Amino acid sequence: MNLPKIAVIGSGSWGFNHVRTFYSLKNCELVCVCDLISKNLERVKKQFPDINIENDYKKIISNPDINAVVMATSAETHYEIAKSALIAGKHCFVEKPITLNINEAEELVKLAQEKNLVLMVGHLLLYHSAVDYLKNLVDDKKIGDVLYIYSQRVNLGKVRSTENALWSFAPHDISIMLHLINAKPLRVSATGQTFLQKKNSIHDVVFFTIYFDNGAFGHGQVSWLDPHKIRKFTIVGSEKMVTFDDMEIREKIRIYDKGVDASNVTYDSFAESLVLHDGDITIPKINLGEPLKREDSHFIDCIVNHKKPLTDGQNGLDVLKVLVAAQKSLENDGQPEKI
Ligand SMILES: NC(=O)c1ccc[n+]([C@@H]2O[C@H](COP(=O)([O-])OP(=O)(O)OC[C@H]3O[C@@H](n4cnc5c(N)ncnc54)[C@H](O)[C@@H]3O)[C@@H](O)[C@H]2O)c1
Repeated sequence: MNLPKIAVIGSGSWGFNHVRTFYSLKNCELVCVCDLISKNLERVKKQFPDINIENDYKKIISNPDINAVVMATSAETHYEIAKSALIAGKHCFVEKPITLNINEAEELVKLAQEKNLVLMVGHLLLYHSAVDYLKNLVDDKKIGDVLYIYSQRVNLGKVRSTENALWSFAPHDISIMLHLINAKPLRVSATGQTFLQKKNSIHDVVFFTIYFDNGAFGHGQVSWLDPHKIRKFTIVGSEKMVTFDDMEIREKIRIYDKGVDASNVTYDSFAESLVLHDGDITIPKINLGEPLKREDSHFIDCIVNHKKPLTDGQNGLDVLKVLVAAQKSLENDGQPEKI
Protein backbone atom coordinates (compact mmCIF):
# COMPACT_ATOMS: atom_id res chain seq x y z
CA MET A 1 0.00 0.00 0.00
CA ASN A 2 1.17 3.55 -0.68
CA LEU A 3 1.85 5.65 2.40
CA PRO A 4 -1.45 7.04 3.77
CA LYS A 5 -1.87 10.70 2.93
CA ILE A 6 -2.88 12.72 5.97
CA ALA A 7 -4.37 16.17 6.53
CA VAL A 8 -4.49 17.94 9.89
CA ILE A 9 -7.49 20.21 10.43
CA GLY A 10 -6.87 22.75 13.22
CA SER A 11 -3.30 23.88 13.81
CA GLY A 12 -3.84 25.88 16.98
CA SER A 13 -1.89 25.35 20.17
CA TRP A 14 -2.39 21.56 20.27
CA GLY A 15 -2.92 20.81 16.58
CA PHE A 16 0.51 22.19 15.72
CA ASN A 17 2.00 19.33 17.77
CA HIS A 18 0.16 16.84 15.54
CA VAL A 19 1.52 18.67 12.47
CA ARG A 20 5.08 18.34 13.77
CA THR A 21 4.59 14.71 14.73
CA PHE A 22 2.84 13.46 11.58
CA TYR A 23 5.46 15.31 9.52
CA SER A 24 8.18 13.36 11.32
CA LEU A 25 6.56 9.92 10.90
CA LYS A 26 7.99 7.72 8.18
CA ASN A 27 4.88 5.57 7.66
CA CYS A 28 2.61 8.37 6.34
CA GLU A 29 2.74 11.53 4.32
CA LEU A 30 1.39 14.76 5.81
CA VAL A 31 0.13 16.59 2.73
CA CYS A 32 -2.09 19.39 3.98
CA VAL A 33 -2.88 21.48 7.06
CA CYS A 34 -6.10 23.47 7.40
CA ASP A 35 -7.00 26.27 9.77
CA LEU A 36 -9.31 29.27 9.74
CA ILE A 37 -6.62 31.55 11.15
CA SER A 38 -3.98 32.62 8.61
CA LYS A 39 -1.37 33.28 11.33
CA ASN A 40 -1.52 29.59 12.29
CA LEU A 41 -1.13 28.54 8.66
CA GLU A 42 1.84 30.89 8.19
CA ARG A 43 3.54 29.24 11.16
CA VAL A 44 3.06 25.83 9.50
CA LYS A 45 4.33 27.08 6.13
CA LYS A 46 7.38 28.69 7.74
CA GLN A 47 8.42 25.51 9.51
CA PHE A 48 7.27 22.95 6.90
CA PRO A 49 7.38 24.69 3.50
CA ASP A 50 6.47 21.55 1.53
CA ILE A 51 3.08 21.09 3.24
CA ASN A 52 0.03 22.57 1.48
CA ILE A 53 -2.12 24.90 3.50
CA GLU A 54 -5.85 25.42 3.25
CA ASN A 55 -8.46 27.47 5.07
CA ASP A 56 -11.58 25.56 4.02
CA TYR A 57 -11.82 22.06 5.50
CA LYS A 58 -14.41 21.08 2.88
CA LYS A 59 -11.65 21.14 0.24
CA ILE A 60 -9.82 18.50 2.26
CA ILE A 61 -12.93 16.37 2.58
CA SER A 62 -13.54 16.50 -1.18
CA ASN A 63 -9.91 15.73 -2.06
CA PRO A 64 -9.84 12.04 -3.09
CA ASP A 65 -6.05 11.84 -2.62
CA ILE A 66 -6.34 12.36 1.15
CA ASN A 67 -6.91 9.07 3.03
CA ALA A 68 -7.18 10.31 6.61
CA VAL A 69 -7.88 13.46 8.59
CA VAL A 70 -6.72 14.48 12.04
CA MET A 71 -9.03 16.93 13.79
CA ALA A 72 -7.58 19.23 16.40
CA THR A 73 -10.25 21.89 16.13
CA SER A 74 -12.35 23.08 19.06
CA ALA A 75 -14.66 20.41 20.47
CA GLU A 76 -17.93 21.84 19.12
CA THR A 77 -16.70 21.35 15.52
CA HIS A 78 -15.63 17.69 15.90
CA TYR A 79 -18.98 16.13 14.99
CA GLU A 80 -19.59 18.06 11.79
CA ILE A 81 -16.05 17.68 10.43
CA ALA A 82 -15.67 14.01 11.44
CA LYS A 83 -19.06 13.10 9.99
CA SER A 84 -18.28 14.65 6.64
CA ALA A 85 -14.84 12.99 6.59
CA LEU A 86 -16.28 9.54 7.35
CA ILE A 87 -19.02 9.95 4.74
CA ALA A 88 -16.27 10.82 2.24
CA GLY A 89 -14.50 7.55 3.15
CA LYS A 90 -11.61 9.01 5.17
CA HIS A 91 -10.16 7.55 8.34
CA CYS A 92 -10.54 9.94 11.26
CA PHE A 93 -8.53 10.88 14.29
CA VAL A 94 -10.58 13.22 16.52
CA GLU A 95 -9.09 15.06 19.45
CA LYS A 96 -10.78 14.63 22.81
CA PRO A 97 -13.63 14.97 23.60
CA ILE A 98 -15.00 13.01 20.62
CA THR A 99 -18.10 15.25 20.46
CA LEU A 100 -20.18 17.23 22.93
CA ASN A 101 -23.24 15.05 22.72
CA ILE A 102 -23.83 11.31 23.03
CA ASN A 103 -26.12 10.91 19.98
CA GLU A 104 -23.52 12.55 17.78
CA ALA A 105 -20.72 10.31 19.05
CA GLU A 106 -22.90 7.21 18.59
CA GLU A 107 -23.58 8.29 15.02
CA LEU A 108 -19.84 8.64 14.29
CA VAL A 109 -19.08 5.21 15.81
CA LYS A 110 -21.82 3.61 13.69
CA LEU A 111 -20.71 5.40 10.54
CA ALA A 112 -17.09 4.30 10.99
CA GLN A 113 -18.24 0.69 11.52
CA GLU A 114 -20.49 0.70 8.47
CA LYS A 115 -17.78 2.14 6.27
CA ASN A 116 -15.00 0.02 7.80
CA LEU A 117 -12.94 3.10 8.62
CA VAL A 118 -10.66 3.84 11.54
CA LEU A 119 -12.13 6.26 14.07
CA MET A 120 -9.70 7.09 16.83
CA VAL A 121 -9.94 9.57 19.71
CA GLY A 122 -7.01 11.51 21.21
CA HIS A 123 -6.92 10.09 24.73
CA LEU A 124 -3.21 10.81 24.79
CA LEU A 125 -2.32 9.38 28.19
CA LEU A 126 -3.26 5.87 27.11
CA TYR A 127 -0.16 6.07 24.87
CA HIS A 128 2.11 6.99 27.81
CA SER A 129 4.64 4.24 28.67
CA ALA A 130 4.01 4.87 32.38
CA VAL A 131 0.32 4.10 31.85
CA ASP A 132 1.23 0.86 30.06
CA TYR A 133 3.30 0.01 33.11
CA LEU A 134 0.38 0.78 35.46
CA LYS A 135 -1.99 -1.26 33.32
CA ASN A 136 0.29 -4.31 33.51
CA LEU A 137 0.67 -3.88 37.27
CA VAL A 138 -3.09 -3.76 37.70
CA ASP A 139 -3.94 -6.57 35.25
CA ASP A 140 -1.27 -8.87 36.74
CA LYS A 141 -2.78 -8.18 40.21
CA LYS A 142 0.61 -6.93 41.45
CA ILE A 143 -1.13 -4.38 43.67
CA GLY A 144 -4.12 -6.60 44.47
CA ASP A 145 -7.52 -5.20 43.51
CA VAL A 146 -7.80 -1.50 42.68
CA LEU A 147 -9.83 0.02 45.52
CA TYR A 148 -9.76 3.62 44.34
CA ILE A 149 -7.85 6.10 42.19
CA TYR A 150 -7.56 9.82 42.62
CA SER A 151 -6.03 12.29 40.22
CA GLN A 152 -5.06 15.94 40.16
CA ARG A 153 -4.73 17.91 36.93
CA VAL A 154 -4.36 21.52 38.00
CA ASN A 155 -2.35 24.58 37.03
CA LEU A 156 -2.77 28.31 36.30
CA GLY A 157 -4.33 29.01 32.78
CA LYS A 158 -5.08 28.38 29.84
CA VAL A 159 -8.55 29.65 30.73
CA ARG A 160 -11.01 28.53 28.03
CA SER A 161 -14.22 30.39 27.19
CA THR A 162 -16.19 27.71 25.30
CA GLU A 163 -15.59 24.73 27.58
CA ASN A 164 -15.11 24.35 31.32
CA ALA A 165 -12.24 22.72 33.20
CA LEU A 166 -14.14 19.41 33.32
CA TRP A 167 -14.39 19.10 29.51
CA SER A 168 -10.94 20.53 28.95
CA PHE A 169 -8.93 18.39 31.40
CA ALA A 170 -10.99 15.49 32.76
CA PRO A 171 -11.14 13.38 29.55
CA HIS A 172 -7.54 12.39 30.36
CA ASP A 173 -8.30 11.38 33.95
CA ILE A 174 -11.55 9.61 33.07
CA SER A 175 -9.91 7.65 30.24
CA ILE A 176 -7.21 6.40 32.62
CA MET A 177 -9.70 5.54 35.37
CA LEU A 178 -11.84 3.52 32.92
CA HIS A 179 -8.71 1.86 31.52
CA LEU A 180 -7.29 0.83 34.89
CA ILE A 181 -10.42 0.05 36.89
CA ASN A 182 -11.88 -1.91 33.96
CA ALA A 183 -15.39 -2.14 35.44
CA LYS A 184 -18.69 -0.54 34.51
CA PRO A 185 -19.01 3.10 35.66
CA LEU A 186 -22.44 3.41 37.25
CA ARG A 187 -22.77 7.01 38.36
CA VAL A 188 -20.80 10.20 38.81
CA SER A 189 -21.09 13.25 40.99
CA ALA A 190 -19.35 16.55 40.35
CA THR A 191 -19.11 19.87 42.12
CA GLY A 192 -17.23 22.99 41.18
CA GLN A 193 -17.30 26.74 40.93
CA THR A 194 -17.36 29.50 38.29
CA PHE A 195 -15.04 32.20 39.58
CA LEU A 196 -13.73 33.84 36.41
CA GLN A 197 -16.62 33.55 33.94
CA LYS A 198 -19.73 33.55 36.10
CA LYS A 199 -21.91 35.02 33.34
CA ASN A 200 -21.10 32.15 30.95
CA SER A 201 -21.26 29.53 33.72
CA ILE A 202 -17.80 28.18 32.85
CA HIS A 203 -16.47 26.16 35.77
CA ASP A 204 -12.81 26.84 36.57
CA VAL A 205 -12.52 24.19 39.27
CA VAL A 206 -14.26 20.80 39.32
CA PHE A 207 -14.09 17.82 41.66
CA PHE A 208 -15.72 14.64 40.35
CA THR A 209 -16.20 11.09 41.64
CA ILE A 210 -17.06 8.09 39.48
CA TYR A 211 -18.56 4.98 41.14
CA PHE A 212 -17.94 1.60 39.47
CA ASP A 213 -19.99 -1.61 39.67
CA ASN A 214 -17.14 -3.51 41.39
CA GLY A 215 -17.11 -1.08 44.32
CA ALA A 216 -14.04 0.86 43.16
CA PHE A 217 -14.21 4.60 42.66
CA GLY A 218 -12.20 7.27 40.88
CA HIS A 219 -11.96 10.84 42.09
CA GLY A 220 -10.52 13.73 40.08
CA GLN A 221 -9.67 17.37 40.68
CA VAL A 222 -9.32 19.57 37.59
CA SER A 223 -8.65 23.30 37.53
CA TRP A 224 -6.96 26.10 35.64
CA LEU A 225 -7.05 28.29 38.75
CA ASP A 226 -4.40 26.82 40.98
CA PRO A 227 -0.91 27.86 42.05
CA HIS A 228 0.59 24.40 41.40
CA LYS A 229 1.14 22.50 38.21
CA ILE A 230 0.18 18.96 39.16
CA ARG A 231 -0.40 15.95 36.91
CA LYS A 232 -0.64 13.08 39.34
CA PHE A 233 -2.52 9.83 39.90
CA THR A 234 -2.61 7.78 43.10
CA ILE A 235 -3.85 4.21 42.83
CA VAL A 236 -4.69 2.44 46.05
CA GLY A 237 -4.74 -1.33 45.70
CA SER A 238 -5.69 -3.94 48.25
CA GLU A 239 -2.02 -5.01 48.53
CA LYS A 240 0.11 -2.11 47.29
CA MET A 241 -0.24 1.53 46.35
CA VAL A 242 1.18 3.35 43.33
CA THR A 243 1.68 6.95 42.27
CA PHE A 244 2.19 8.24 38.73
CA ASP A 245 3.55 11.78 38.75
CA ASP A 246 3.86 13.06 35.20
CA MET A 247 5.68 16.21 36.34
CA GLU A 248 8.63 14.07 37.42
CA ILE A 249 11.21 13.95 34.65
CA ARG A 250 12.38 10.36 35.27
CA GLU A 251 10.92 8.75 38.38
CA LYS A 252 7.32 8.91 37.28
CA ILE A 253 6.06 5.79 39.05
CA ARG A 254 6.52 4.81 42.68
CA ILE A 255 5.18 1.55 44.03
CA TYR A 256 4.60 1.58 47.77
CA ASP A 257 4.52 -1.77 49.50
CA LYS A 258 1.96 -0.43 51.94
CA GLY A 259 -1.40 -1.76 52.93
CA VAL A 260 -3.73 -3.01 55.61
CA ASP A 261 -4.71 -6.67 55.97
CA ALA A 262 -8.18 -6.83 57.45
CA SER A 263 -8.84 -10.51 56.66
CA ASN A 264 -8.60 -11.71 60.29
CA VAL A 265 -10.68 -8.92 61.73
CA THR A 266 -13.39 -9.93 64.17
CA TYR A 267 -16.12 -7.65 65.39
CA ASP A 268 -14.79 -7.74 68.98
CA SER A 269 -11.19 -6.90 68.26
CA PHE A 270 -11.32 -4.71 65.20
CA ALA A 271 -8.28 -2.49 65.79
CA GLU A 272 -6.07 -5.28 67.16
CA SER A 273 -6.76 -7.55 64.19
CA LEU A 274 -5.70 -5.10 61.48
CA VAL A 275 -2.21 -5.82 60.20
CA LEU A 276 -0.46 -2.85 58.65
CA HIS A 277 2.46 -3.35 56.36
CA ASP A 278 4.74 -0.50 55.45
CA GLY A 279 7.50 -1.87 53.25
CA ASP A 280 9.81 -0.68 50.49
CA ILE A 281 9.17 1.93 47.86
CA THR A 282 10.14 0.77 44.36
CA ILE A 283 10.85 3.15 41.50
CA PRO A 284 10.77 1.15 38.26
CA LYS A 285 12.80 2.16 35.25
CA ILE A 286 10.47 3.01 32.41
CA ASN A 287 11.59 3.67 28.84
CA LEU A 288 9.80 6.89 28.15
CA GLY A 289 8.94 7.68 24.54
CA GLU A 290 6.89 10.65 23.39
CA PRO A 291 3.20 9.72 23.94
CA LEU A 292 2.05 11.87 21.02
CA LYS A 293 4.40 10.10 18.64
CA ARG A 294 3.13 6.71 19.84
CA GLU A 295 -0.46 7.89 19.52
CA ASP A 296 -0.04 9.25 15.99
CA SER A 297 1.95 6.17 14.83
CA HIS A 298 -0.78 3.96 16.27
CA PHE A 299 -3.35 5.78 14.12
CA ILE A 300 -1.33 5.08 10.98
CA ASP A 301 -0.67 1.48 12.05
CA CYS A 302 -4.42 0.94 12.50
CA ILE A 303 -5.10 2.33 9.01
CA VAL A 304 -2.40 0.31 7.28
CA ASN A 305 -2.94 -2.95 9.17
CA HIS A 306 -6.72 -2.71 9.64
CA LYS A 307 -6.50 -2.71 13.44
CA LYS A 308 -8.90 -1.40 16.06
CA PRO A 309 -7.36 1.57 17.88
CA LEU A 310 -6.79 1.33 21.63
CA THR A 311 -8.78 4.55 21.91
CA ASP A 312 -11.39 3.89 19.24
CA GLY A 313 -14.68 5.70 18.78
CA GLN A 314 -16.38 3.48 21.37
CA ASN A 315 -13.70 4.43 23.90
CA GLY A 316 -14.34 8.10 23.05
CA LEU A 317 -18.06 7.48 23.61
CA ASP A 318 -17.45 5.75 26.98
CA VAL A 319 -15.49 8.77 28.23
CA LEU A 320 -18.08 11.15 26.80
CA LYS A 321 -20.91 9.41 28.70
CA VAL A 322 -19.08 10.08 31.97
CA LEU A 323 -18.46 13.72 31.00
CA VAL A 324 -22.10 14.30 30.08
CA ALA A 325 -23.33 12.81 33.37
CA ALA A 326 -20.70 14.76 35.34
CA GLN A 327 -21.81 18.00 33.66
CA LYS A 328 -25.44 17.29 34.68
CA SER A 329 -24.32 16.63 38.22
CA LEU A 330 -22.28 19.85 38.23
CA GLU A 331 -25.40 21.78 37.25
CA ASN A 332 -27.38 19.99 39.98
CA ASP A 333 -25.18 20.84 42.94
CA GLY A 334 -23.39 17.49 42.89
CA GLN A 335 -26.45 15.21 42.72
CA PRO A 336 -25.11 11.81 41.53
CA GLU A 337 -26.08 11.12 37.89
CA LYS A 338 -26.44 7.73 36.24
CA ILE A 339 -23.91 7.11 33.47
N1 LIG B 1 -4.67 15.47 23.79
C1 LIG B 1 -4.29 16.51 24.48
O1 LIG B 1 -3.45 16.43 25.38
C2 LIG B 1 -4.86 17.86 24.14
C3 LIG B 1 -4.27 19.03 24.66
C4 LIG B 1 -4.84 20.25 24.32
C5 LIG B 1 -5.96 20.28 23.50
N2 LIG B 1 -6.50 19.14 23.03
C6 LIG B 1 -7.70 19.15 22.18
O2 LIG B 1 -7.35 19.64 20.88
C7 LIG B 1 -8.41 20.41 20.33
C8 LIG B 1 -7.89 21.81 20.00
O3 LIG B 1 -7.44 22.43 21.17
P1 LIG B 1 -6.40 23.67 21.10
O4 LIG B 1 -5.99 23.94 22.48
O5 LIG B 1 -5.38 23.45 20.06
O6 LIG B 1 -7.41 24.84 20.62
P2 LIG B 1 -7.05 26.11 19.77
O7 LIG B 1 -8.22 27.02 19.86
O8 LIG B 1 -5.70 26.63 20.10
O9 LIG B 1 -6.97 25.57 18.27
C9 LIG B 1 -8.08 25.16 17.53
C10 LIG B 1 -7.81 25.54 16.08
O10 LIG B 1 -8.82 24.99 15.26
C11 LIG B 1 -9.09 25.94 14.24
N3 LIG B 1 -10.44 25.69 13.71
C12 LIG B 1 -11.64 25.77 14.38
N4 LIG B 1 -12.64 25.49 13.52
C13 LIG B 1 -12.09 25.20 12.33
C14 LIG B 1 -12.60 24.83 11.07
N5 LIG B 1 -13.92 24.71 10.86
N6 LIG B 1 -11.74 24.63 10.05
C15 LIG B 1 -10.42 24.75 10.23
N7 LIG B 1 -9.85 25.12 11.41
C16 LIG B 1 -10.67 25.32 12.45
C17 LIG B 1 -9.01 27.28 14.93
O11 LIG B 1 -8.79 28.31 14.00
C18 LIG B 1 -7.81 27.06 15.86
O12 LIG B 1 -6.59 27.45 15.27
C19 LIG B 1 -9.54 20.38 21.38
O13 LIG B 1 -10.40 19.33 21.08
C20 LIG B 1 -8.79 20.09 22.68
O14 LIG B 1 -9.60 19.45 23.65
C21 LIG B 1 -5.96 17.94 23.32
